[in-house]
Amino acid sequence: FAWTEANAEKAREIMGRYPAGRQMSCTIPFLDLAQRQVGAETNTQGWLPVPVIEFIARELAMPYIRVFEVATFYTMFNLVPVGRYHVQVCGTTPCMLRGSDDVLAACKSRGLKKGHTTADGLFTLTEVECLGSCASAPMVQINDDNFEDLTYDRTVAILDALAKGESPKAGTQEPGRHTVEPVGEP
Ligand code: FES
Repeated sequence: FAWTEANAEKAREIMGRYPAGRQMSCTIPFLDLAQRQVGAETNTQGWLPVPVIEFIARELAMPYIRVFEVATFYTMFNLVPVGRYHVQVCGTTPCMLRGSDDVLAACKSRGLKKGHTTADGLFTLTEVECLGSCASAPMVQINDDNFEDLTYDRTVAILDALAKGESPKAGTQEPGRHTVEPVGEP
């Protein structure tokens, strides 16, 4: 594994954000960049095979285990190949109380199985912990987009649209609902 020319440039830019000798701070952005590179090369959401983690350890002059432990801690990093759409269903309490079981049932109805990728390589389903969108629970993150205020039917519609190659609108799926902006001091 090696950076593409464009990513080598991005890696230098990331490295430049931190003081000399603090290259360990690049671990997460480098893992993210590498995963996206693998994704672009495989038309999937990418993953981090051992040689990629070894490469980053070398780039950052870190022991392999220090990079590996970061990669294994965060669910945003994939340690096995995933599909073109990585469906991350939040199963934490607020989403669970608001219907994450219905979201999972909708996924199941379209052949998605937790921890697996569909045979056509299109969808990988993962259950994750809180993704910080509890006010519009239940929600799911698909690739880089959040889909919120989900129901069984809304989830099915999103999956079907993706399967057809469409780009369903991200954000809240509740008609008339808008993202609430933080209110400043009166
Ligand atoms: Fe699901 Fe917070 S509990 S986003």
